[in-house]
Amino acid sequence: MAIEYIKTGVEGLDKILKGGLRKNSAIVVTGAPGTGKTIMALQFIYNGAKDYGENGIYITTEEDMDDLQNYAQNLGMDLMSLEKQKKIFFIQKPISTLRGGIMSMKGLLDAIRKYNVKRVALDSTIFFEYLYPKYNSHVMEYRRHILMFMGQLKKAGVTFLAVSEKSLTDLDNLRYDMVDFVFEGFIVLTRVRKGSYFERVMTVAKMRGQEHSLDIYPINIGKGGVKVLVDQTPFSLVEKQDKI
Ligand SMILES: Nc1ncnc2c1ncn2[C@@H]1O[C@H](COP(=O)(O)OP(=O)(O)OP(=O)(O)O)[C@@H](O)[C@H]1O
Ligand SMILES: [Mg+2]
Repeated sequence: MAIEYIKTGVEGLDKILKGGLRKNSAIVVTGAPGTGKTIMALQFIYNGAKDYGENGIYITTEEDMDDLQNYAQNLGMDLMSLEKQKKIFFIQKPISTLRGGIMSMKGLLDAIRKYNVKRVALDSTIFFEYLYPKYNSHVMEYRRHILMFMGQLKKAGVTFLAVSEKSLTDLDNLRYDMVDFVFEGFIVLTRVRKGSYFERVMTVAKMRGQEHSLDIYPINIGKGGVKVLVDQTPFSLVEKQDKI
């Protein structure tokens, strides 16, 4: 059977992925604070529902819902109107209310079926640490639970995008965490210094089972969200290379 691809909803990214994300795959977007992870996850859900007819659920452990709506509004994404049309749904799980994995998973799967959901975004993977607190000290058990969570989403016909936090995102010295390995795709957002300013860049570090570009691309954040400038080499990196 031919592999099906879905559009990410992030301008320029589908070109780098040579078509988009594999349907029903699970990918993680990682980066330091303020690099555009939340915005990219919002685009995946918002544009997925608006432009590609794929309903979505956005799970946030981080942001207050009103703040998130206003934040998206400033980027030109009207979350409320799609929410009213029952095309996108928000689950806010403040860390203090996360308890016991099984009930929450069942609730999520019920909602996926009921509302014909095709995309789930999770901001961020801290969620797992609270959902399975008993297992944090048992890495293999914790990993097994994340894999189970991802497996159930896959079985439900969902493409899954998770956000994870990294304090160090120097592209030459990336430190991988256990969670990074369980995902099929891995996108890194970071900043590269250019003299007295930082340039935003991204790269696709892995995308299991599909061909993709390994280049580092500059990105912009503005109206519409994150935009990958596919036809440009980052200015900061060109300069570095010239010195060699
Ligand atoms: N309306 C806007 N116009 C232009 N740039 C914006 C706008 N809103 C946010 N940004 C930029 O996007 C950056 C934050 O993006 P985002 O919230 O996705 O980061 P993040 O990677 O999720 O960070 P954290 O790990 O702290 O949650 C801000 O630091 C700001 O520079
Ligand atoms: Mg964020």
